[in-house]
Amino acid sequence: MTDEAIRAAKCYAQAFFAHEASGHDAHHTMRVYRTARRIAEREGADEATVALAALLHDVDDAKLSPQTAETLGNARAFLAGQGICGQEAEAVLTAIREVSFSKNGATPPSTLEAACVRDADRLDALGAIGIARTFAFGGSRGRMLHDPTGADAGSSTQHFYDKLFKLKDMMCTEAGHQMAEGRDAVLHQFMDEFLAEWAGER
Ligand code: ADP
Ligand code: NI
Repeated sequence: MTDEAIRAAKCYAQAFFAHEASGHDAHHTMRVYRTARRIAEREGADEATVALAALLHDVDDAKLSPQTAETLGNARAFLAGQGICGQEAEAVLTAIREVSFSKNGATPPSTLEAACVRDADRLDALGAIGIARTFAFGGSRGRMLHDPTGADAGSSTQHFYDKLFKLKDMMCTEAGHQMAEGRDAVLHQFMDEFLAEWAGER
């Protein structure tokens, strides 16, 4: 697997997500890619596998491409087009398959490379960027910012309790866990301030 395949995957992802504005845009993919590479370097994972899996991790997402979500058809076709097949392709596809929160939850990843990409994707749901993405996603689905009655189970603030506050302790690598600490603190500071302003206390 070459630098050329990584360059091609960047172009492919940029084109794939060109019209996506629900938090799954090309910038998300590029942030996950950069974070995953940092984690891979610190963990001693195979960097090419991690790089390609990070760049391709959302091209078969069930929300964006339901018809290929099971087969990972888009990622598979891209890799084949680059002449990447057999074990090399399977390593990338395994990492992609094991990223998803909804599909894998707390099940540990089966490879170090999958752990790096999963942590990088989860880190992008934390911190300032994670806050922005949560409200952008909620807006794209017509959800309320906040519902103090708790009746709207899909409000954007509810998502912090359902998922985001749990992610720090679900990191799979030591490097990912360290990076999650600061971003998790940002989420808690934000929620404290949000609730205080909502209640008219500040
Ligand atoms: P990924 O796993 O690639 O981060 P997701 O589809 O799980 O993608 O989520 C995209 C973004 O939208 C994330 O920041 C996530 O936290 C946020 N998100 C997902 N579900 C909800 C929801 N029900 N309400 C608000 N934000 C959400
Ligand atoms: Ni993602």
